[in-house]
Amino acid sequence: MVLFFPYRFTPSKKGCLFIRPKGCNGFYMKTIRKVSHLKEELNRHRKDGKTIGFVPTMGALHPGHMSLLGTAKAENDLLVCSIFVNPIQFNEEGDLDAYPRPLEQDQRLLLEQGCHILFLPGEGEMYPDKPRERYDFGRLDKVMEGEYRPGHFNGVAIVVHRLLKMVAPHRAYFGEKDFQQLQVINKLVEMTGLGTRIVAVPTSREADGLARSSRNARLTPEQRKAAPLIYKVLKEAKDRYLGFTNPKQLEKWATEVISSNVHLRPQYVRVVDINSLEKIEQWTDNERCILCVAVFAGDVRLIDNMRLFNK
Ligand code: PAJ
Repeated sequence: MVLFFPYRFTPSKKGCLFIRPKGCNGFYMKTIRKVSHLKEELNRHRKDGKTIGFVPTMGALHPGHMSLLGTAKAENDLLVCSIFVNPIQFNEEGDLDAYPRPLEQDQRLLLEQGCHILFLPGEGEMYPDKPRERYDFGRLDKVMEGEYRPGHFNGVAIVVHRLLKMVAPHRAYFGEKDFQQLQVINKLVEMTGLGTRIVAVPTSREADGLARSSRNARLTPEQRKAAPLIYKVLKEAKDRYLGFTNPKQLEKWATEVISSNVHLRPQYVRVVDINSLEKIEQWTDNERCILCVAVFAGDVRLIDNMRLFNK
């Protein structure tokens, strides 16, 4: 596919990059790499009384990210997005190296979405010294993803805490697709007293139900065909969970159905409390149940979740 890239890049004296579509004199997006420039720029807007909506990402933007950006755009005067592939949240170096970084395509998508500022810090800007913060989230970051990806949420918390301090937005937007991450961030904001409101955005899905993710591009055609079974099972679980004697029975059924496809290997399937993320033993707690899964398709790890009750 040939990508037509109809934008002019104009470097400014201060190291910001202004991007505007050809023939469009009205709208610019600034790409800012330095924290000092970012703060200066945002303070100017704050003085004008503008509200700031912030969407932190690791780039390789897809329609899932766009739904966060669209929501943030609608609810705030100024839209800020960050792209930073955060090395300290990866468990394997190979995964970090393989992470896609299609910067020009991301900039084009952000511009089309009406993003005002792209914050694009380098590693030296985010981590001038080795980051050593340790957060105590109790068991919230130890279960599920935390069991299989030790240290991952501490790395996420470090970068999100720093980004929220740098941008100091009125609202920051996170996807429900990464439900445990969302709850860890809610806890982080509560613990640190940051003045930002965290807004949860529903999972954006492909037409066949597969949760959108930059990892989906790595699926083989056979794996891609198999992957929507995850959503099918989540949905069926929601429709008839009370037909299972207890959550354990439901987990067993869901694990078996997903495993019955040769391309899919569940890592965990858990019915947990929506706030504490602790396992639920009986349906008496069903008002607060969410079913969370991690499934391998080859070496691609897919996560997804579904509330078992209506919001
Ligand atoms: P990244 O994977 O780029 O995701 C950025 C945001 O987009 C996260 O809040 C994520 O939950 C959301 N998102 C991704 N796919 C989505 C989908 N299909 N539907 C709805 N939202 C979706 O998550 C991270 O980056 C990083 O951990 C980060 C928070 C930026 C810290 O480094």
